[in-house]
Amino acid sequence: MMNGKASSPMQSVLVTGGSGFIGSNFIRYLFEKTSFDGKVVNLDKLTYAANPQNLAEIAAAFPERYVFVRGDICDEETVKKVFETQDIDTVVHFAAESHVDRSILGPAAFVQTNIVGTFNLLETARAFWFNGGSVPRPHRFHHVSTDEVYGTLGPDDPPFSEDHPYLPNSPYAASKAASDHLVRAYYRTYGLQTTLSNCSNNYGPYQFPEKLIPLVILNALEGKPLPIYGDGLNIRDWLYVEDHCYGIWLVLTRGQPGETYNIGGNNERTNIEIVHKLCERLEEVRPARKNGRLADRGISRYKDLITFVKDRPGHDRRYAINADKAKRELGYRPRESFDTGLMKTLRWYLDHDDWCRNVRDGSYREWIATQYGQFQNKNP
Ligand code: NAD
Ligand code: TYD
Repeated sequence: MMNGKASSPMQSVLVTGGSGFIGSNFIRYLFEKTSFDGKVVNLDKLTYAANPQNLAEIAAAFPERYVFVRGDICDEETVKKVFETQDIDTVVHFAAESHVDRSILGPAAFVQTNIVGTFNLLETARAFWFNGGSVPRPHRFHHVSTDEVYGTLGPDDPPFSEDHPYLPNSPYAASKAASDHLVRAYYRTYGLQTTLSNCSNNYGPYQFPEKLIPLVILNALEGKPLPIYGDGLNIRDWLYVEDHCYGIWLVLTRGQPGETYNIGGNNERTNIEIVHKLCERLEEVRPARKNGRLADRGISRYKDLITFVKDRPGHDRRYAINADKAKRELGYRPRESFDTGLMKTLRWYLDHDDWCRNVRDGSYREWIATQYGQFQNKNP
C-alpha cells in the first residue's frame, strides 16, 4: 500500500478518459494499491480507444465509490453537471486523442478534444472551485501529458528535463503542448492548483492494439506482418503503465502546485529491439512452430513476420526522459524492469483472449486497412 498525504481532499476525483488504457489502469491502481478512500467519477466519451469492460470488476466491487458518466469533455453542460452533482475536488485528466498516426490522417479531433476539451475542463473547474470569490476551496487539477511535446533528440543529446523547450512535431504532440500551456496559464493567472506530468511511452495491460507493443503481440499470434516504420532505429523510453500510475499518485499526494514532473522508465530501446524481444519471449511461452496459424504457412519463427514499411511522416527519432526531479522531490523510481514489464504484458494479452477479440471489431479492422494498406512493404 502506498501512503501519502493528499494536498487536496481527494474525496471526489474526476478521472477523464478513465475507460482508456492508462486511465483504467490508474483507477484500478487507486482502488487496489493506494490508501485512497474517496469516490472516482469516470467521465469518458467511449471513443474507439475505450473499453468499459476494463473497469467492470471495479464497478462491481466498489458500487458506492465508482461512478461512470458517458460524456464528452468538450461539452460544457455535461462537465458542469458532473462537477456540481458529484462535488468534484480533484481532476486527473487523461482524456485525449492519443495516437500519432491517427493525428496525421485526421488532426481535427485532436484539436477538439486535446485543446478545446482541456480548456473546457479548466474553465469549469475554475468556476466551480472559486465560485466567484478569490479564495478557492481545496482542490487539485492534474494534467497527464507526454514527452512528445519536447520534440525529438539526437543520439548524444541528454534526456528531456522539465525545462526543455517545447518543440512538438506531430499534430498530436502539438495539441498536447497547447493543452499543457493552458494548464500552466491557469496556475499563473488564476491560481488554479495545477500539476502536470510528462511521461514517456507506456506499455502494459489494456493497451489498444494500434500502438506498437500490443499490435506486435497480437499480429504475431495471428501470423500477421509485424510492421516496422523506416529503419526501426527510432528510440522510445518505455514505461510500464503501473509505474506511471504510481508516479501520478506521487504527484497528487506529494507534488507542488504549479510544477511539472517528468515520469520515465529509464528504458531507451530501438523499435527493432522491442520487436525482436517480443518475438523471443513469445517463442518461449508459445512457440511459433506449434502455432497453427504460422505453421500452416511454413513459418517457424515469429521474427520471420517482421516487415519494414514506409516511415511515418515527421517521425521523431528519439525520446528519453530525465526523471531526476520526480526522484528527488517525490521519491519516484520505476519499479518494473523492461524484462519483467514486458513479460507481464505478454502474459496479460495471452490470458485475455476475449478482450483482444472484442477490441478488434469492424472499426479496428478499418483502421488497420487504412494505415497499413497504404504502405509499400520495404523488405529487401
Ligand atoms: P487512450 O487513447 O487509450 O484513451 C483515451 C481515453 O479518452 C479513451 O477512453 C477515450 O474514450 C477518452 N476520450 C477521448 N476523447 C474524449 C472526449 N472528448 N471526452 C471524454 N473522453 C474522451 O489513451 P491513453 O494511452 O490511455 O493516454 C491517456 C493520456 O496519457 C493521454 O492524455 C495521452 O496523451 C497521455 N499519454 C499517453 C502515453 C502512452 O504511451 N499511451 C504516453 C504519454 C502520455
Ligand atoms: P506508438 O506506439 O505509436 O507510440 P508513439 O508514436 O507515440 O511513440 O509507436 C512507438 C514507436 O513504434 C514509434 O517510433 C513508431 C513505431 N511503430 C512502428 O514501427 N510500427 C507500428 O506499426 C507502430 C504502431 C509504431
